[in-house]
Amino acid sequence: MPNQKPTSLFNNKAAGERLSWMRDPNIRPYVFVRPENRIQKPGSQHPGLDWFPHQVLYKNPLEMDEVKFADRILGLETKAFGPSGMAMPRWVFYDCAIVPGFVAGFAQRTNSLSPAVRLALGVDDENVNDDDWTPLSLFIIIPTMSLGGEWVAHNLCSVNSLLAKEEQFYGIGFLSKAFGLWYANVRTCCGMTQWTSPAVRLHAHYGDFEVLTAFTPVHSYSRTLTYRVNVDVSHWASFFDKQSKESSFLTRYKPAGFEVNPTDEESLISFQRRLERREGPYFLHGNETLAKALTDPLTIYSRK
Ligand SMILES: CC(C)(COP(=O)(O)OP(=O)(O)OC[C@H]1O[C@@H](n2cnc3c(N)ncnc32)[C@H](O)[C@@H]1OP(=O)(O)O)[C@@H](O)C(=O)NCCC(=O)NCCS
Repeated sequence: MPNQKPTSLFNNKAAGERLSWMRDPNIRPYVFVRPENRIQKPGSQHPGLDWFPHQVLYKNPLEMDEVKFADRILGLETKAFGPSGMAMPRWVFYDCAIVPGFVAGFAQRTNSLSPAVRLALGVDDENVNDDDWTPLSLFIIIPTMSLGGEWVAHNLCSVNSLLAKEEQFYGIGFLSKAFGLWYANVRTCCGMTQWTSPAVRLHAHYGDFEVLTAFTPVHSYSRTLTYRVNVDVSHWASFFDKQSKESSFLTRYKPAGFEVNPTDEESLISFQRRLERREGPYFLHGNETLAKALTDPLTIYSRK
């Protein structure tokens, strides 16, 4: 059932010790947002979620002295997206993210970073002082023109993509988006990702995941999917439990009778044509994205 009480993060057996970094006092969630865009009552639309009791670090991008933090956000973004050719130009960061929107994520006191993280992010000892913070992740959301108060998830990345498994902050990508959606009181969010990206697994766990486009030639990468999620915090904990039999989804949705093959362009185009013929709405099942390989065909669902 939607709108059930969310599961407490640290009671989640499956995630267990792997989330211990969340309790490190040297790591805090941050918001990098101009004063006019600050959220008035953070988290008030998602009561009952106790995942982010931390003191939030606030940084103002309009202050010149914060350029170092901005440089580090962009440095992380460039490294994470460079290999896929989608690194964000600096002016896009300012014009399309900072001015209209909101950047959130987790940051760590620079003087407490592990050598592996310093190396991955290219942080040197120069000018490091006790008040210095380094972003470990970023999630950018921008309000859309939709009258329903819809936001668009513009960018998500984490330092994990640059680290060996044993050096990673388990769940930091997922939790960065969770924090941003919670903090900014986002009820509805659309976004874009590529079909075989690991990010599909994350994005499909914030609420029922509707596919808006399955093949998107207007994007630089046609094999992009566009999605919409009605944010439901009661879904979130199932991300940390691959064995989850959480099937409230199946009480509301049934297999639509076809699959989509993320590696087959014909399959994506055929799905896109169904969407254009208004045969949907169609959904993916978040738990299925975790259980299958990134390139496996996925079941498409429709409302019961
Ligand atoms: C995609 C991205 C944001 C995921 O964030 P993350 O911090 O690595 O992921 P989290 O720690 O929050 O979650 C871990 C889970 O995500 C999935 N996942 C993350 N990276 C994965 C990968 N390379 N392959 C398969 N699954 C992956 C797995 O389910 C994993 O759980 P597991 O380790 O128990 O299998 C991050 O890898 C990244 O920044 N990638 C480069 C930029 C990018 O492609 N962003 C997405 C744009 S839409």
